[in-house]
Amino acid sequence: MNRLHTISQALPRRQWLRAAAGAAVLGTVPVWAQRSPGFGTYQPEPFQAGKDVVWVPTPDALVTRMLQMAGVTRHDHVIDLGAGDGKIVIAAARQFGARALGIEFNPELVAHAQRRARAAGVADRARIVQGDIFEADLSAASVITLYLLTELNLKLRPTLLRLKPGTRLVTHAFGMGTWQPDEHSRAGGATAYLWLVPANVGGHWRLSYPRDGQTVNVQMTVARQVFQFPEGTVHLGAAETSLRDARVAGERVRWAFTDTDGVVRQFSGRVDGARIEGTVTGGGASARFSAERQGEAPAILVSA
Ligand SMILES: C[S@@+](CC[C@H](N)C(=O)[O-])C[C@H]1O[C@@H](n2cnc3c(N)ncnc32)[C@H](O)[C@@H]1O
Repeated sequence: MNRLHTISQALPRRQWLRAAAGAAVLGTVPVWAQRSPGFGTYQPEPFQAGKDVVWVPTPDALVTRMLQMAGVTRHDHVIDLGAGDGKIVIAAARQFGARALGIEFNPELVAHAQRRARAAGVADRARIVQGDIFEADLSAASVITLYLLTELNLKLRPTLLRLKPGTRLVTHAFGMGTWQPDEHSRAGGATAYLWLVPANVGGHWRLSYPRDGQTVNVQMTVARQVFQFPEGTVHLGAAETSLRDARVAGERVRWAFTDTDGVVRQFSGRVDGARIEGTVTGGGASARFSAERQGEAPAILVSA
C-alpha cells in the first residue's frame, strides 16, 4: 500500500486537501485523484498549486451525485468555481444537457479543460474561461458547484446569498460555516452538500386564508430570518402566537401555527417577491391562501 493511500484512509479528504496546499508531503495520488486523460502535452498533476487552492479533481461518482442533488436539467446554467480539468462542466453538459461555465484561474488548466470539452463533443454547451472566482459575475447561474476550502466558501457566501432565490449551491467536502446545508450525500468515498438560496420572507405580511366558510385576514410578522429559518408571530386578534416549523427552501416556504379554534394550520407556498401563494391544511381541510408583504423586507441575517 503506498504512502498516500495510507494517508487518504487515515485523514478525511477535507483535511488532506487542506494539507496538500503545502504539500510536497503527498508523493502519489489515490485512484479518484489520478490525472485526467491526456489531451495535448500539458498534464495537470493532482495537488499542483492553484491561486487560492490546489487542483484536485472531484471523483466521477460524486460529480454525478452533486449534479443530481442540484436537480440539473437542460434548462439550467451551471457554473463551477475553480473548474480544474473541466470535469464538472463537461458532465453537466454531457450527462444532464445543461449549459455550463467553468471559471479557472490557471490558463494551462483552462486550455486543458477546453480540449477535454471539445473531445467530449460538448464545447458548445460547456465553456471554460480564465478568471478569478472572486471577480466573476455569478448572477446568471441557476446552479453553482464548488470544490474549494471552507474559508473560500465563506468569502463567497455574501455573494451566493444574494443570488436569485432557488439557486442551488453544491459543494464537495467543504461547508458554509453556520449556514446549514439543506441536504448532504455521499458517493465515490466523498461527501457533497446542497444549499438552496433562500427567498427573503422577512417583514410584515397580511395573511388571508379560509376558515369555516369565511376569509380570515391576520397580520403575520417575520421579525428575522437567519439563513433559511424565519422566526415570527401571527396576530390573531384574541391571541398572538409564534410561528412553528418555519423554513424556506429556495422559493418555497412553510410554517404553521395554532389557530384560535385550536387547530394547527400548516402553510406551504411559493414566494414571489412581496407575495406568497400556496395551500393551508388543518382540521382535515385543505384550501388556498395568500399573503402580501407590507413595507420592506429586512435583510436575511447570517450568523458568523
Ligand atoms: C480542488 S480543485 C476543484 C476542481 C474541479 N472543480 C473539480 O471539482 O474537479 C480547485 C480549482 O480551483 C482553482 N482555483 C484556485 N483559486 C482560484 C481562483 N481564485 N479563481 C479561479 N480558480 C481558482 C484551482 O486552480 C483548481 O483547479
